[in-house]
Amino acid sequence: MDSPLTLDSDAVPRATLWGGGFSQPMHPALAAISDSLIQDLPLADADMRASAAYAQALVRCGVLRAGEGEILTTTLAAMREDLAAGRWIPAGVEDIHTAIEAELVRRAGELGERIHTGRSRNDQVATAFRLAVCERGDALADAVRGLQRSILRRAEAEIDTLLPAYTHLQRAQPTRLAHWLLAHFWPLQRDVERLGQARQRVLDLPLGSGAATGNPFGVDRAWLARELGFRSVAQNSLDAVGDRDFAAEILFSCALLGVHLSRLAEEMVLWSTAEFGFLRWPDPLATGSSLMPNKRNPDLAELVRGRSASLVGDLTTLLVLLKGLPASYQRDLQEDKPPVWRATATVLASLQAMRAGIEGVEFDRERMGRSLTDELLATDAADLLVRRGVTFRKAHGIVARAVAEARRRGLSLRELAREAPDALPEPLRPEDVLALDFEAAIEWRTAVGGTARAAVESQLLQAEAALSGDDA
Ligand code: ARG
Repeated sequence: MDSPLTLDSDAVPRATLWGGGFSQPMHPALAAISDSLIQDLPLADADMRASAAYAQALVRCGVLRAGEGEILTTTLAAMREDLAAGRWIPAGVEDIHTAIEAELVRRAGELGERIHTGRSRNDQVATAFRLAVCERGDALADAVRGLQRSILRRAEAEIDTLLPAYTHLQRAQPTRLAHWLLAHFWPLQRDVERLGQARQRVLDLPLGSGAATGNPFGVDRAWLARELGFRSVAQNSLDAVGDRDFAAEILFSCALLGVHLSRLAEEMVLWSTAEFGFLRWPDPLATGSSLMPNKRNPDLAELVRGRSASLVGDLTTLLVLLKGLPASYQRDLQEDKPPVWRATATVLASLQAMRAGIEGVEFDRERMGRSLTDELLATDAADLLVRRGVTFRKAHGIVARAVAEARRRGLSLRELAREAPDALPEPLRPEDVLALDFEAAIEWRTAVGGTARAAVESQLLQAEAALSGDDA
């Protein structure tokens, strides 16, 4: 029996765009790694749009008559519709560019053979890839915006919910749940901005660079750029056909987005443990165990965290692919698309899942409140001494001794002040300690970026403004 990896023993001759000088069919082992039709499919629509614009550019420089350009553009438009509707399914050739040209010739006759005048698949694929990457980047930015909006809505509702802030995963100081939620808003804001900046560089037009050295028919590249929505025209043809920085940039954006989502996911997993108990996954967002009837698992967050691994992998794949490549087109570059399709689809699904998670999880406010222990006020006790003129370093030492003493006696800081006031190191007074409270500690932090109500309210406004695109 044939193994699934067995190749057809007979090489089948196929139509290619380059076979004129070849008298024997391609070896099946080469065909197996050469064909890119499946991975090219997401390029198809962009490739036909770019081909239609190129047909018009050929009219403008006198290679085609206006009527001929018209036939090519209307045929390409019909092909786009047929592809979208499933009436035309490209097959049986090595790549999408071959499939499109073959179909154009089938529909428009010999005229279709003129579309590739002065053009190479090298400038063609780079152009279609940029258009597709730009669209995916825009879709990602929209999805990030959606998640940010959900985070912001929840933050607005939780400004009065207090809980510990953690460093080193140890209870540190009191904060507001709104502040924690917004801590995951701003990384996403940077992601959106990064995608926007990368977008500017994606839209640098390679079309009109030919295979490597430019276009000999004088196509108006500035016109092509305007027609296709590019912002600029690539200035060096050798660079233009081999530049994949834009792909690296979207992959970096995806990878960092994945890292951001994984950090939020990790906290949501942790918070849903019995040990933390800060949040609960409702039925539609939780999963169970096939064995243990008691389980309610946070798979949503775990999968978002887990899937971020492939995003880092896809970025690495592309960077290693590009490293050491000579300028201009090398066939290695055909391997640039799968990581981009994979990463953009993965991160989009993760963003949607995380949005559902953020909107649906239930917070246990009472449990958060009970986690606020006196020790979280130690910094504020030190700050109190500072306000009385003690240097911070000395104040730190004094309060640290008080905390150690309370721990030794199995008491909280406030219990120590109440039950053994004399055990407090000078000049810390029992009434100092007893006057401390979580709300007050939070309210002291009025500086921009802090936890005081006013500071968080203004942060909420800044976040709202960031979402609506202005900078209040
Ligand atoms: N399938 C190829 C790719 O994605 C198209 C360009 C082929 N160019 C060439 N010189 N063989 O890179």
